[in-house]
Amino acid sequence: MKNTEEQFYAIVAPGFESACADELEKRLQVPMTIEHGGVSFHGKLRELYLANLWSRCASRIVVRLGHFSCRDFPTLYRKAVRLPWGRFLKPGTAIEVRVTCRQSRLNHSGRVAETISDAISKALGTPVPQQDMSFRQQILLRLDNDHCQISIDSSAERLHRRGYRQQMTPAPLRETLAAGCLLHCGWLGNSDFLDAMCGSGTLAIEAALIAGDLAPGRQRTFAFQQWPGYRENLWHTVLSEAERQQHNPSITITASDQDEQAIHAAKINAKAAGVDQWIQFEQCPYQQQHRSGTHGLWLSNPPYGERLHQIQTTPQLFQELNHHFDANFSGWQGVMILPHPLRRMPEPQLQFRNGGLPVALYPLHLT
Ligand SMILES: C[S@@+](CC[C@H](N)C(=O)[O-])C[C@H]1O[C@@H](n2cnc3c(N)ncnc32)[C@H](O)[C@@H]1O
Repeated sequence: MKNTEEQFYAIVAPGFESACADELEKRLQVPMTIEHGGVSFHGKLRELYLANLWSRCASRIVVRLGHFSCRDFPTLYRKAVRLPWGRFLKPGTAIEVRVTCRQSRLNHSGRVAETISDAISKALGTPVPQQDMSFRQQILLRLDNDHCQISIDSSAERLHRRGYRQQMTPAPLRETLAAGCLLHCGWLGNSDFLDAMCGSGTLAIEAALIAGDLAPGRQRTFAFQQWPGYRENLWHTVLSEAERQQHNPSITITASDQDEQAIHAAKINAKAAGVDQWIQFEQCPYQQQHRSGTHGLWLSNPPYGERLHQIQTTPQLFQELNHHFDANFSGWQGVMILPHPLRRMPEPQLQFRNGGLPVALYPLHLT
């Protein structure tokens, strides 16, 4: 890939678009445009590498390769052949074409994918391997009202896979959603943090990564490292700049849970993320937690939903959490991640989906 200006798109869980635009704009210093389910921006390889390394809430970063109107397969093939595939695919790289069709004449996603595969073989002058290789370059194709948008994924595994989740507990929160919730609450690592129902520790670990200014992608690899124009020196420069920004947080981050195994899992995950030294782990029911300092955020993801069979008890739990919060957390912001919609609950701050369930951020009483 030549180091030319490209259009990039960060795919984000709906609800977190503005949090993602804010974090990327600060880090990349380029303007962001918010769309439904994503954020688009322009840049060169440096911006692409930075976005993958630093985005806490995007699920992947793609390069928008081309768009055109198209109502039949010969047109799709002809226009796809002309795209600059050689900048992103080494000959012999296996591909996976992910197709979504909406209100378009071409609605056979399997045949659309085959057409793109044929077009790539023709453009590269070599067949695209069909067998499962260890790395498969993802190509995303979206047909909407006969308009085709083709993008190349630069991330490989989705960005929530930071590389630190070694141990699972039931109903974990996805890392990108956990970070998105923290950013949405306006928590930037300058005040204390508590998750009193921490499970595998995701919220506290993401909080520690934010507080220490640690890049969430520093422990993993990306699809762009397989591209013909991968600039290893530039990637190492971006990584060492990130390393120089790390610092020890001067706040208290607490992860507690009543369950011994959850605390064990959270410790292992935090160690793998390189932040265990910044988190206080405590095994206790949330009723024994008190504020650590005068200001802070208590953000928790209590047990709920189909997976934990407790949806009917949630409003009562919320009431109990509110009582405990009012009595013990003056000066703090309290927010719970709970199913949505629920009767007898206040208006939520933000709605999103977690593990297929509609959930929302509910503020505890404001102090
Ligand atoms: C949905 S899980 C949290 C998942 C977590 N956010 C993660 O990413 O892994 C809910 C957690 O609340 C804990 N829990 C339930 N009741 C509690 C209580 N009264 N006090 C403290 N923890 C409690 C459970 O042990 C469980 O680990």
